Amino acid sequence: MTHRRRLVRVPASSANLGPGFDAFAAALALHVEVEVIESGRFGVDTKLDIARDRRNLCVRGFARLHPPDSFTFRIGSTIPLSGGLGSSAAAYTAGVLAAAHMFELQEDLLGHVAELEGHPDNAAAALLGGFVIVTGGDVARFEPPDGLEAVIVVPRIAVRTAVARKALPATVPIADASANVAHGAMLTLGLSTGDFALIGRGLQDRLHQPYRAHLFPRSMALLQRASRLGAIGATISGAGPTVLFWTQVDATGAVVAKLRRECDGWADVLRAPFEPQGADVREL
Ligand code: HSE
Repeated sequence: MTHRRRLVRVPASSANLGPGFDAFAAALALHVEVEVIESGRFGVDTKLDIARDRRNLCVRGFARLHPPDSFTFRIGSTIPLSGGLGSSAAAYTAGVLAAAHMFELQEDLLGHVAELEGHPDNAAAALLGGFVIVTGGDVARFEPPDGLEAVIVVPRIAVRTAVARKALPATVPIADASANVAHGAMLTLGLSTGDFALIGRGLQDRLHQPYRAHLFPRSMALLQRASRLGAIGATISGAGPTVLFWTQVDATGAVVAKLRRECDGWADVLRAPFEPQGADVREL
């Protein structure tokens, strides 16, 4: 009997990007890698601190399209799990993509992952790479501009996305919604023309970061000092507590050094370049 095998590689992602709550995201060059093997038995092999049974997110993604009973899932990842880097979207994507490729299924992969996740932003970036703008099932994607880099500050204490979503109000003032529309447009224009000053002006948010600030006060304090630390700006990555610092290539090294001094003892500082390549699957 031939044992079907697939190797899937899916990037991390940062959602919201300041003004684009539930609508903007970018892929980052940290990855989950999953080998799915038709071994005749169910199993999850991993050194990560994640579920090894059917609650595992890769397995749940796969199970959406095919029963996982006779498959082994070998899972490795460089994506920090403490929150805001799309690790769950990447895991679901890996499972769904492995099953779709193995069984040659023409499926709406984004629809499946978005439903498993509850929102489509990280899912779209994980699948497509680059920068994405998404609403419902409608997605636009574009390449990261040359010379733009990213550094992430990953606090050691996690914040659950469900808790961060509960912190949001049911309605927002129209002036705040309008400000976010303007900043979102400035950010998109800055990204598409490579205008780094405009990118910096476009990173402002009034719809989610202020309401969640009490969940990650150290992240917010650091974010507010982004330009003094040499960055173009900073945004809370997804639902937090990770912070995404946006940098110009020549400044990245100095920003990393300053952030390492600031974060000693409570957060890890990692270079995480913007990743143009989306989810990828290979037959082994
Ligand atoms: N847009 C979502 C949120 C991302 O901010 O709640 C969660 O990763």
